[in-house]
Amino acid sequence: MVKTLLSAAACVLFFITTTACMVSAIALPSIPVSTRIYIGGSFTTLNDTRYNNVAYYDLKEKSFKAMENGTNDEVKVLTTDSYGNVYIGGAFTQLGTKKSGPLAVWNVYHSKWVDTGLSSSDFTPGSVVTAISTECTNSYDFDSTQGLFPCDIYIAGNFKASVSGSNATNILYYHHKNKKWETQATLNATYITVISKVVNNNMVFYGGKFHDANGKEYGLAMYDTSSSSWIMIDGVSGVTDIYYNSHIYSSDNMFISASIFAYSQCKGICNFNLRDGSWTTRSGIISTGSVNKIRYINGLSASNVGSIFVGGSFMSESSVGRRDGTGEYSAISTNYPKETVLGMDICGLKAYDVTGCKGGSVAVVGQNFFKFYDANDNMWKSLLSENGFVLNSISITNIPEMPIPSPIPSPFPSSVQAKISSSECNSFKVLLFITFLFIFHLIN
Ligand SMILES: *[C@@H]1O[C@H](CO)[C@@H](O)[C@H](O)[C@H]1NC(C)=O
Ligand SMILES: *[C@@H]1O[C@H](CO)[C@@H](O)[C@H](O)[C@H]1NC(C)=O
Ligand SMILES: *[C@@H]1O[C@H](CO)[C@@H](O)[C@H](O)[C@H]1NC(C)=O
Ligand SMILES: *[C@@H]1O[C@H](CO)[C@@H](O)[C@H](O)[C@H]1NC(C)=O
Repeated sequence: MVKTLLSAAACVLFFITTTACMVSAIALPSIPVSTRIYIGGSFTTLNDTRYNNVAYYDLKEKSFKAMENGTNDEVKVLTTDSYGNVYIGGAFTQLGTKKSGPLAVWNVYHSKWVDTGLSSSDFTPGSVVTAISTECTNSYDFDSTQGLFPCDIYIAGNFKASVSGSNATNILYYHHKNKKWETQATLNATYITVISKVVNNNMVFYGGKFHDANGKEYGLAMYDTSSSSWIMIDGVSGVTDIYYNSHIYSSDNMFISASIFAYSQCKGICNFNLRDGSWTTRSGIISTGSVNKIRYINGLSASNVGSIFVGGSFMSESSVGRRDGTGEYSAISTNYPKETVLGMDICGLKAYDVTGCKGGSVAVVGQNFFKFYDANDNMWKSLLSENGFVLNSISITNIPEMPIPSPIPSPFPSSVQAKISSSECNSFKVLLFITFLFIFHLIN
């Protein structure tokens, strides 16, 4: 009994001190809390500074910032995960002088591009990534603060890749659980415009142009991660965006923008019910022009239906629309943008959960424009007044407050040993390890 207690006490002591050591070992750079608009596209310079296809606009400092040396070719898609890390895909093959292939991940805590486990040599020349989606787990481990975070990464485009001994065509994903890139069951895709992983669900939605074995065409396909199989969804073509946010209505709902809906009451945008597969006009109607991007925020208007934001090209009208509750889509403020919107994001999913950017503020980009609607002063302003650039994709994200969540202590001294690398902890941990072994030896 005493032996067991002593042994347990030694273990507890070991873990407490080791954990403390581990925490002090991850002294991360402190980042001021702010909000950033990450931008990806085709540009070398902006405001006379070289960025090379990717950069961000800091809403607090009101200035553009570089992300190392950027890429050597166009960024087609940019997205951020729930931790604030940035993912880009495109036609590029390098980050500065480093070979990356058409995908790159920016670790926001260290402000650097990290190793994705893929390189240019894994892809055939001309490979392009056009869509990315991520889903992260809350379980954190110490190593993940350095490189990739604990997230599954879904990518698609026009590429051929060779990973883990198998070939992937146009679709590939990083399986965090297995810490490797894996292939999915084959899907005959001509192009893929968007991927949307439904949070806490097996479903991953893909928009684009697909054919089944009988040659029938579809605009929407769903991958079930639990059965590793594809389900084709009838009723749309020319899908431009698939937007899911758990605050939407009853959380069974997803908004889809497309050029054609079989459910003919829908125009521009349609509500797809995840539970029963039905299409409805709950997301309103956009009768002219086309929608390229959708966002949603709950709690802005008095109605609990929330507000939907759309960006696209609506002829002579504003190219950004907003619908509060069950009303009609209308322009936001005056002096609104009319240029075709390629990328759009808003601040907040629910009102008041944003830092440094009032909920309902909107950023839109496209060819030769980058405009921001500040909900604080109800005004649109242009963040760039020059030509010669295209911005394809953007994401607004809060810069998380430090520090990073605590690491999970490991029950195995050897793996704990491997994880502690900070020099100030080295002598301490050796001493601790020897003490631990000694106590253990004594009691046994
Ligand atoms: C544009 O460049 C000027 C001169 O370097 C700088 O002062 C200004 O902050 C820059 N503007 C933005 C929005 O980055
Ligand atoms: C970025 O550019 C700087 C200056 O030109 C160079 O020293 C550095 O090696 C480059 N980094 C990469 C990753 O290419
Ligand atoms: C992958 O593709 C390469 C080149 O086309 C081929 O040689 C190889 O056999 C393929 N591997 C598998 C597992 O299909
Ligand atoms: C994909 O579908 C199209 C249309 O049915 C067909 O022509 C093509 O051969 C298919 N591709 C593959 C790789 O099966």
